[in-house]
Amino acid sequence: MKRYEDPKWVQSMKLSLDHNYAMAEFLGESGLKETDLQGLAPRLQAFHQDLAAQRDKGQMGFMELPYQGQTVKEIHQVSKPLLEWCWDVVVLGIGGSALGPRALHQALCHPQHNKFPMARRHLKLGLWVADNIDPDYLYGLLDGLDMRRTAFNVISKSGNTAETLAQFLWIYKLLKGRVGEAKARERLIITTDPEQGPLRSLVAQERLASLAVPPNVGGRFSVLSAVGLLPAALAGIEVEELLAGARFMDQRLKDAAVDENPAYRLAALFYLFATAKARPILVFMPYASTLAGMAEWFCQLWAESLGKQHDLKGNVVHAGSTPVKALGTTDQHSQLQLYMEGPPDKLVTFLAVDNFKHHLEIPDLYPDQEALSYLGGHSLNELLRGELQATAFNLMKAGRPNLTLHLPEVNPFTVGQLIYFLEVVTVAAAFLFGVNAFDQPGVEGGKKTTYGLMGRRGFENYHREFAEASPAREKYRIV
Ligand code: PA5
Repeated sequence: MKRYEDPKWVQSMKLSLDHNYAMAEFLGESGLKETDLQGLAPRLQAFHQDLAAQRDKGQMGFMELPYQGQTVKEIHQVSKPLLEWCWDVVVLGIGGSALGPRALHQALCHPQHNKFPMARRHLKLGLWVADNIDPDYLYGLLDGLDMRRTAFNVISKSGNTAETLAQFLWIYKLLKGRVGEAKARERLIITTDPEQGPLRSLVAQERLASLAVPPNVGGRFSVLSAVGLLPAALAGIEVEELLAGARFMDQRLKDAAVDENPAYRLAALFYLFATAKARPILVFMPYASTLAGMAEWFCQLWAESLGKQHDLKGNVVHAGSTPVKALGTTDQHSQLQLYMEGPPDKLVTFLAVDNFKHHLEIPDLYPDQEALSYLGGHSLNELLRGELQATAFNLMKAGRPNLTLHLPEVNPFTVGQLIYFLEVVTVAAAFLFGVNAFDQPGVEGGKKTTYGLMGRRGFENYHREFAEASPAREKYRIV
């Protein structure tokens, strides 16, 4: 029996939410009252029904991902031959096509995973995510890998993203030169829309291995599809357990009464602080280095889903709140001063890990020196927990609202829960803000101008518009 099939283990791995320090009982004026939250209950009830109806109509693709047994089979089929000869896999993708795989790798693989020899990695692959197109970074990354033993997973839902396509073109040529055309093909796996887009056409033309991202799943909601699962499986992460965690959360959120639903509660808190309490900045701060990538992933999910000019009725609203990633305790020595005493415009969300895999005792080496000896006999685990508790408490004392999401451990089951949970929180918050969580019209302008600057046919006007505006930019240039 797998551990995620054991109900006792599953119950011990439940994610929980502590929002005491966001409430008026602790914060006075700056906090929320239970009645504020109750005031949103009818809207959240409507959301709950709306979500179920949209899901029935097949419009909530991300919610079906935890149930895609077929995808898991395909992933294992694609992984098997690669695991026989390959040492490393490089993901070429950006945005939702990169942040999810990177977050999983960081959370669920050994911190030195990529540096270990194959035997120590249990014959699994090193995983690299080349999202940016900084030429020095990309060149340097490949320079350190053995091309004969490296595969490339090109991930783009649309199959149309300039950065990813440019990386693909450069690498394909490089590979052909190094290992020949046939072997170059064996080193490429494309993850894209099942039917559409330039990458899907190339799959057919070049006879490349491929996996599909369901058409109704957008980039930032795709981590539990082949986008995240193939890189994760290649790196040795238990993808079945990850999906089991997401299914467990799905069931929990489906069954909970609206006012006991932790995702709706968190969405309501985020929404009310951003609007009624004028706190437009949302700090997301894990107290675990392995979860820094989850913070990055969440920040994209939140920013791109909620930051919208128009609401669903077409009114100009400029909705959203600005997510900021931070890391405890590191940023206690960098950002915290601002959070404590700077503008009162933030809500801080901590992500706490209740139990780490390792327990590191601090020895009492200098019993006569108080500055050192008070640490002796405690553990790094206790110190980390104590620092989080102290930070949360002192923020509260300064009237700064904060809340804590608890993960019992960091493992595929809890990370699967967390991902699914934060996706539902985001969609529920979008409903409260009255915006479409699944589009990103604001990034289209920049893409079109880039196409124009790169000489893409059909985008000449964008180039012209840019060129015409350029002379004016001499005025404020200091050289
Ligand atoms: O969430 C999104 O839709 C975006 O961030 C995309 O993931 C990003 O723009 C990359 O798109 P694609 O996967 O189509 O290459």
